[in-house]
Amino acid sequence: MTESRTVVWPPAPIRTERLVLREPEARDRAAAIELSASPEVGTYVGGARPRDELERTVPEVPGRRPGVFVVELDGAMIGFVELNRRDAEHRSQVRPDAGEAELGYMFLPQAWGYGYATEACAAALDWFSGAHPGDPVVLTTQTANARSMRLAAKLGFTEVQRYEEWGAEQWFGRWFPVALSR
Ligand SMILES: CC(C)(COP(=O)(O)OP(=O)(O)OC[C@H]1O[C@@H](n2cnc3c(N)ncnc32)[C@H](O)[C@@H]1OP(=O)(O)O)[C@@H](O)C(=O)NCCC(=O)NCCS
Repeated sequence: MTESRTVVWPPAPIRTERLVLREPEARDRAAAIELSASPEVGTYVGGARPRDELERTVPEVPGRRPGVFVVELDGAMIGFVELNRRDAEHRSQVRPDAGEAELGYMFLPQAWGYGYATEACAAALDWFSGAHPGDPVVLTTQTANARSMRLAAKLGFTEVQRYEEWGAEQWFGRWFPVALSR
């Protein structure tokens, strides 16, 4: 186990009504490749990557680092949710003083439209607010990414700022531990 600030990682698997959030395992590799190779998934996050390149480069256990949860439905991975401190590059771009945790999410297209991302992100935020009481969480998404914008609103993120980056309008929002509307 590793320490992410003061928090021991990984936590015990988090169970929701329909899902399990857990540390990545080797059996998630095919789904992780599927995610990165999907043009639909990549639309607002830098595009799909060639499958043959992914087959060569994705590690045996994909995404194994503190803050990354695999989201599992009926025993199979359907996506990733990540909660990690913003890197220095983003801090200088958006909020020079910030060391906030940032929420990221990515689900296989066949799992869109069932509320799984909302359910998983709400559980991850709940875990985070227990592990880091009072700490805010931030999120950046393209405003054109309508699904992601709706998800951010449902989770309770509120707008701080919009800005242009990578040729698109970006939305920067912030979340404080409050009741979530699912
Ligand atoms: C962003 C992303 C996670 C959103 O996925 P999603 O499935 O739309 O999100 P939700 O879990 O909130 O599901 C909401 C939909 O499920 C529907 N739904 C069905 N059953 C539901 C239930 N039991 N509970 C809640 N919602 C339910 C909702 O009505 C809503 O439908 P709508 O899209 O027609 O409004 C997904 O589009 C994705 O992975 N995109 C690619 C990666 C990406 O762009 N990430 C953002 C990086 S910043």
